Amino acid sequence: MRNRIAGRLDRIPPSGIRKFFDLVSSMGGVISLGVGEPDFPTPWHITEAAIHSLEQGYTMYTSNSGMIELRREIASYLKTTYDLDYDPNTELLITNGVSEGLDLAVRAILDPGDEVIMPDPAYVSYPSCVLFADGVPVRVPTSCDNQFKLAAADVEARITSRTKAILIGYPANPTGAVMEIGDLADIADVARHHNLMVISDEIYNLLVYDTEPVCFASLPGVKDRTILLAGFSKAYAMTGWRIGYAAASADLIAAMTKIHQYTALCAPIMGQVAAIEAIKAGEPEARRMTQEYDRRRRVMVKGLNDIGLTCFEPKGAFYAFPSITSTGMSSEEFAETLLTEEKVAVVPGTAFGQCGEGHVRCCYATSLSNIEEALTRMARFVKKYRRS
Ligand SMILES: Cc1ncc(COP(=O)(O)O)c(C=O)c1O
Repeated sequence: MRNRIAGRLDRIPPSGIRKFFDLVSSMGGVISLGVGEPDFPTPWHITEAAIHSLEQGYTMYTSNSGMIELRREIASYLKTTYDLDYDPNTELLITNGVSEGLDLAVRAILDPGDEVIMPDPAYVSYPSCVLFADGVPVRVPTSCDNQFKLAAADVEARITSRTKAILIGYPANPTGAVMEIGDLADIADVARHHNLMVISDEIYNLLVYDTEPVCFASLPGVKDRTILLAGFSKAYAMTGWRIGYAAASADLIAAMTKIHQYTALCAPIMGQVAAIEAIKAGEPEARRMTQEYDRRRRVMVKGLNDIGLTCFEPKGAFYAFPSITSTGMSSEEFAETLLTEEKVAVVPGTAFGQCGEGHVRCCYATSLSNIEEALTRMARFVKKYRRS
């Protein structure tokens, strides 16, 4: 045996976020602005629907594609919300969260060496999933000068004969950036013009503030080349239920299902039952949680700007991405020193790509009192280290 572990894995660094949380979990009294997940429990009527189904004996596999009732509800939701038609029998696949959907999408479309253009910074799994599929992530720098939007001209400049897809995720993790309809239409033009696929991760689409969500697939002429990924984790506070979905044309869903049926078989049935309840009756609770995030967002963004950590206004998800350059520290140094000295956990921007340098991610999916206390501690910290 040459090596026990496949060489492919050497090209993929361990998740910067995990490394950091291992450190956090070994300390007491930490206020965490770290983990990107709702602090609310799943709304009770959703949990209750799942409990009830367990009592009825719903403990088995479902169809590989997922329960048809759930696929029908999703199809009807996409029609009502975005006027998009997807056939629940052939154009929808229920996945184990968007995480699995993303993995299936890239494995279904990439041959070794195919390139996928994506923003930098971006969600940690994007480049890794592409590398796991033997593809090549091609990063497009974005910055707060352009509110971390992906500029179509920058995408176009990186297209080669090996480019297969553009991978976008707006509202964005880690920046909270949103792409308006015009910005996305420019990306759609590039995709059409160069005959590229688009994977659009819309997990945060319901979490937008002072703006309307846009579904990329609903833009003119791109539905057939788009794999839409979305799910229940964030808007319905259902991270542990592991339910997401992919919507795309039948050939793409068939290819993704081929992998899914061998590697995952299906998404958990209790999660699927819960998701049916969420999509049918969960909107008022989802809206209430979104309003609460919005309140916290305002406090967080104002607080960061007031203490000298300049922060552009995030319009979606539940993250603020302030600049920490006034301290002269690197992102990692800032996050580690802040954690050690003030017991506030934030994530170094570099966990999301090189262009995250000079920033940290602060998740405001935590109580207002936690946010206020974290800001007090951070103010003390910034005062001590401020250089400019
Ligand atoms: C942008 C983005 N996509 C996907 C995921 C994973 O979502 P899921 O829980 O549906 O697997 C996350 C989780 O943080 C995320 O931030």
